[in-house]
Amino acid sequence: MQQLEKPSQSYSLSDWRQGYESQFQELEYLIEEIEGEIPLELSGTLYRNGPGLLEVHGTPLQHPFDGDGMICAFTFKNGRCFFRNRFVKTKEYLEEQKAGKMLYRGVFGSQKPGGLLANLFDIRVKNIANTNIIYWGNKLLALWEAAHPYRLNPENLETMGLDNLDGILQKGDVFSAHPRIDPYSPLNHDKPSLVNFGIKPGLSSTITVYEFDELGKIIDRYSHTTPGFSFIHDFLITSNYCIFFQNPTTYNPFPFIFGFKGAGECVNFDSNQPTKIILIPRHAPHEKVITIETKAGFIFHHANAFEVNSNEIAIDSICYAQLSQIDPDNSYKEVDFEKLAPGKLWRFKLDLINKKVSQELINNRCVEFPSINPKNVGRNYRYIFIGAVDHPTKNAPLQGLLKLDLTTQKEELYSFAPKGFAGEPVFIPKKNPESEDDGWILVLIYDSSSHHSKLVIFEGKDISNPITTLHLKQHIPYGLHGSWKANDEE
Ligand code: CO
Repeated sequence: MQQLEKPSQSYSLSDWRQGYESQFQELEYLIEEIEGEIPLELSGTLYRNGPGLLEVHGTPLQHPFDGDGMICAFTFKNGRCFFRNRFVKTKEYLEEQKAGKMLYRGVFGSQKPGGLLANLFDIRVKNIANTNIIYWGNKLLALWEAAHPYRLNPENLETMGLDNLDGILQKGDVFSAHPRIDPYSPLNHDKPSLVNFGIKPGLSSTITVYEFDELGKIIDRYSHTTPGFSFIHDFLITSNYCIFFQNPTTYNPFPFIFGFKGAGECVNFDSNQPTKIILIPRHAPHEKVITIETKAGFIFHHANAFEVNSNEIAIDSICYAQLSQIDPDNSYKEVDFEKLAPGKLWRFKLDLINKKVSQELINNRCVEFPSINPKNVGRNYRYIFIGAVDHPTKNAPLQGLLKLDLTTQKEELYSFAPKGFAGEPVFIPKKNPESEDDGWILVLIYDSSSHHSKLVIFEGKDISNPITTLHLKQHIPYGLHGSWKANDEE
């Protein structure tokens, strides 16, 4: 008898691509279809952001990153969970709603209909506010890295408007979508602070760092200019440094200006040039900037960094051999995952005295969207929770949750394959934790078998099975980032 071959793929592309269908509805309801029980101590709101519409009035987007930001809020109290989703009502979203057609080009290549003439010299792009959402300084802010944040009402998610952070952001300033919260900031008397950056790219790039106290008041702001173009999505902090990876990219704006391509498609990766690791001191006068070169590669997201001693820093990041770009002639929905550069977790060790870098692979599985215990940001730590593919080495869509123990190298995977597709996990520490992994992991899963999404809760100490699954009445298109806001102490 002929033996059946085990399918080499844990997913089908047609199942995966359904998760990129637009979600037009704005809903709110108490989630009633629940497997397991919601932990009573889980009290607060999980906010998530991501593209909600993958088209604008019938014109499909070239790239999902161009989709209008849609916020989901999962509010937990007394063992129940209330769901609500709302679009960020940006100026451009409202204009396009009114006009009934696409008015703006997307940074990642979505072009207006009408061909070259309609796009020629039209360099206006849309602030889509679709990348992250954080609650800080009594404000709920939807973030997109090339503009000011949008402020929303944390209770009902209504859009309140662009926010300049009490006058800190000037016209033209940008605020990235990847702030880091230092749980014990040396610049805020060991209380929490929020550190973020903005980059104005050009022939040289000016990185501006902002640090805010818990009330959203600015503690410090400083800039450093580095030669060359920068496409820096995320960064790291330790007690003494802000750390940036300037990947070897160049920018040719002409195809964008002339209407052939989106601005993001004009970024070119140059594998012959080194990556520059830039360490800017967090303490004034911020002058002793250290730059260390390492080999080429591309990083969207870092997991964490910490100071091993005063001369050595460890950094854990998801590295790609190059920046994969979508061929403008093919839809992202037809992507061949195995042809894309895989993203894997590496540890860099920086020798600050000799300005040398060593790097080693932490794990061979393709991963993205790392999450750690927020109490360990910028500090030595043991556990990473991260979105992972089902196959141990091949590239594929994220379908699982991986827990890595950096001390023992033990890995645990919970897979939602073949029908489930995973997003970014969020770690929520318990009130009186016994260990670093003593918390809950919340992860939003797109279930292609029902074309609905579900929020799954795991115990951080044991991810062999979810403890709770909350089924939504609709699907949420694949999202980007989110965060947890604990309920104020009662
Ligand atoms: Co990101």
